[in-house]
Amino acid sequence: MTYEQKLSIKETVPFLREHGTQLTGYFYERMFSHNPELKNIFNMGNQANGKQKNALASTVLAYAEHIETPEVLTEVLKSIGNKHVSLNIAPEQYDIVGYHLLSSIKEVLKEKATSSIIEAWAQAYHELAAIMISIEEKMFQKNAEKKGGWKGWRTFVIANIVEESNTVKSFYLVPKDGGAIAEYLPGQYISVKMFVPSLGHEQPRQYSLSSTYMPSHYRISVKKEKGNAKTPDGLVSNCLHEKKIGDEVLVSVPAGSFFANILPEDSLVLISGGVGLTPLMSILETCKALNNKNKVIWIHGCKNEELHAFKSKVANLEHNNDWLTSFVFYEDGLTENSSVKKGRVDLSVLKDKILINKAKYYICGPEPFIKVHYHSLITFGASKESIFYEEFGPQLLQIKE
Ligand SMILES: Cc1cc2nc3c(=O)[nH]c(=O)nc-3n(C[C@H](O)[C@H](O)[C@H](O)COP(=O)(O)OP(=O)(O)OC[C@H]3O[C@@H](n4cnc5c(N)ncnc54)[C@H](O)[C@@H]3O)c2cc1C
Ligand code: HEM
Repeated sequence: MTYEQKLSIKETVPFLREHGTQLTGYFYERMFSHNPELKNIFNMGNQANGKQKNALASTVLAYAEHIETPEVLTEVLKSIGNKHVSLNIAPEQYDIVGYHLLSSIKEVLKEKATSSIIEAWAQAYHELAAIMISIEEKMFQKNAEKKGGWKGWRTFVIANIVEESNTVKSFYLVPKDGGAIAEYLPGQYISVKMFVPSLGHEQPRQYSLSSTYMPSHYRISVKKEKGNAKTPDGLVSNCLHEKKIGDEVLVSVPAGSFFANILPEDSLVLISGGVGLTPLMSILETCKALNNKNKVIWIHGCKNEELHAFKSKVANLEHNNDWLTSFVFYEDGLTENSSVKKGRVDLSVLKDKILINKAKYYICGPEPFIKVHYHSLITFGASKESIFYEEFGPQLLQIKE
């Protein structure tokens, strides 16, 4: 980009700060009305709740703010790349997105969209797309070359279904072609795609792999999202809960930038809220499989015992292994003891148990849950490099102290 073009991009920063989501909201509406086939690959729940337009707006703004040094965004772009690769986004689709993004800039900025601003954004998008396509191409290639790896959607058969709580079911998925399946790091996810009759088109969703890697199958554990007076039932989780053994689903190769690379000397503190325990179950089971006897503190919060998924699995593991200590918080709890607490997860009551020299902290749960526990850990003196977190949605959370 030329010096003048970078100046033109910077000129749009105040607008993007203030009206970025108006622009991205307009962009998605425009794109889906011209290219309705894309509804098959976007999560229409995240369109309805506005999370995806927020995620795109914050990325476009960050790119404009760092137009001189786009390399500072590499980690963010890799995380987006993981999601794109998991959804099999193709390079030629960047032209469609680029076309609608530029048209939206023209139509939303109106007279402020001078020809120099439009030219500058055309060049900026072109360069960003080239960086992203190159990151994603490498990921696609690596995944396809892995033993058991593949590109695109692969048909898996549901080989077993296990109820882990009143609302969470585990699905054991085996490839229909009988071939090998790619290894993954504990914490990573797969995308699962299926036809949703109420929408009349397909929908993908991400599900964390909830066990340690097994060469024979993938296990995912899915919460049935019930609606209420104001919100509808979740589309895909309810369809999945109706599936039977022998039914088929489409699956993409494991991906994701939230994972634990467990070293023999690591101590791990695993903090989950609700169904956020799934990637942490994979980390826990991987500790067991590695047999390094890493010290692990397991902290889980949920509403009550009926909704406590993997309760007996974790209890058995703790009973048989000195390296594991678990604590659970029940919001509707009636009794308390040394490992069962009443109320929401409160790390301050466990401070002396979790402040371990060089421990790594993994948090998974809803956004407010992550924020509260991240800040508690920082207040206790944990370094921000030692804290890893994931929320189950577009990655909006960039915690700044
Ligand atoms: C990396 C990652 C890992 C994940 N891992 C897991 C996992 O291991 N287990 C798991 O259960 N989930 C996991 N999820 C979440 C999962 O992908 C789905 O988001 C979840 O199953 C809900 O999907 P759904 O189709 O049932 O609900 P959706 O139809 O997508 O709806 C989601 C929510 O939005 C509400 N909603 C929808 N439309 C509207 C509207 N118009 N107005 C207001 N509210 C609305 C619904 O009521 C519902 O509560 C993960 C997500 C990510 C990104
Ligand atoms: C420069 C161009 C692009 C940018 C800046 C961008 C940005 C993003 C961001 C920030 C997310 C959220 C990531 C997350 O969930 O953590 C995302 C997700 C996604 N992107 Fe892109 N993207 C681009 C191009 C594309 C293209 C070309 C397609 C294909 C049509 C695409 C399809 C998707 C889909 C389907 C998701 C998941 C949406 C969801 O789960 O709700 N993106 N993108």
